[in-house]
Amino acid sequence: MTIQFDHTPAKKFIGDHEIAAMEPQVAAAARLLENRSGPGSDYLGWLDLPLKYDRAEFKRIKAAAKKIRKQSEVLVVIGIGGSYLGAKAAIEFCTPTPPLPQRGGRKKHFDVVFAGTNLSAPYHARILQAIGDRDFSINVISKSGTTTEPAVAFRLFRQQLEEKYGRQGARERIYATTDPARGALKTLATQEGYETFVVPDDVGGRFSVLTAVGLLPVAAAGIDIDALMRGAADRAKAYKKPFASNDCYQYAAIRNVLNRKGKDIELMVNYEPRCHYVAEWWKQLYGESEGKDGKGIFPASVDFTSDLHSMGQYIQDGRRSLFETVLEIESPETDFNLFKTSDDLDGLNYLAGKSLDFINKKAAEGTRMAHTDGGVPNLVIRIPEATPYYLGQLFFFFEKACAVSGYLLGVNPFDQPGVEAYKKNMFALLGKK
Ligand code: PA5
Repeated sequence: MTIQFDHTPAKKFIGDHEIAAMEPQVAAAARLLENRSGPGSDYLGWLDLPLKYDRAEFKRIKAAAKKIRKQSEVLVVIGIGGSYLGAKAAIEFCTPTPPLPQRGGRKKHFDVVFAGTNLSAPYHARILQAIGDRDFSINVISKSGTTTEPAVAFRLFRQQLEEKYGRQGARERIYATTDPARGALKTLATQEGYETFVVPDDVGGRFSVLTAVGLLPVAAAGIDIDALMRGAADRAKAYKKPFASNDCYQYAAIRNVLNRKGKDIELMVNYEPRCHYVAEWWKQLYGESEGKDGKGIFPASVDFTSDLHSMGQYIQDGRRSLFETVLEIESPETDFNLFKTSDDLDGLNYLAGKSLDFINKKAAEGTRMAHTDGGVPNLVIRIPEATPYYLGQLFFFFEKACAVSGYLLGVNPFDQPGVEAYKKNMFALLGKK
């Protein structure tokens, strides 16, 4: 089984001839990628990564993950943007956080928390408070090694670690993931002797989930990273096929057809809370890759059915510049049947014998019909189960489609010149020399 892209719900908005007309353009974009001759081609390391990754480093990642779980109850992952979203997405998707925090019990509980994703003092104070007297380790992740948010958080948490375990003890609990040669973090890690993992030179932050950037926190969370890589590798082979049998190319083509027809916002929709951060990861991937030169589809996301009660009105009736891409998980790992009551006071007996997932799926179907009638084209991505294997497939699907889509749009999908503007002002205001 594989993940599947289905554009049939959007048929009334896109003719087959329009899709067919994209074929030569997609073939040209795919050639630029495969021949490594397009803009940003120095950053195509992710393309073959699932098939050609560094086996020795992968083994070291698994060993470090095991060591972290043995030495600590909490792993503080410090990183921002592409240096945290993939790991956060994978952990939430594969081992979703229960709405009520788990406490104690006889089994030791292991938590992964994310710091350095913002500059909020109360946020970081709450993390420190939540760690309390539990043993913790740090995985600090920054490709450039110079990003302010994670650097500030690392200084804070390193100090706590050194106070608790001494400088030598702290060294044994700090894992750095950074550039192989450059940056302040690399210098610091070498000087202090931290165990270090590499962000390959030819893999940009938002394409780095299948390197140590994503893999170490994900493995430390107890998730099967072999399965994750296997899923990505399966799709890396499959998405070399020609347009007619290539879901990934078709998604890239269809979103560009919709964009050319005035649909300039893509809403990633889910009906399972575990997908929330997959959409956050996807937003960075597409937003940073395509939003430049005055162009690009604006990537946004909603969590249904919750957001049907807040954003539903706009989607149904507001400006007609939207299309939706719906993530659908076909088989949930658990389900409940609703029972019948003799008085039917809540009026729900018509649902007796139906499962919660069945009701959720009907909500999705009804919403798809309503939004389509309201002028919002719907695309669907079906995921057989919420497992690391299918998530690996999904990660690679979105990465390759993003690169092809960026070339169709005529931008360099691998740079992010716009991210520097706020930093320049912030550094000037902070008096950085
Ligand atoms: O995709 C990107 O390159 C960026 O969003 C980076 O991931 C983000 O700015 C963090 O950078 P770094 O890993 O260098 O700290």
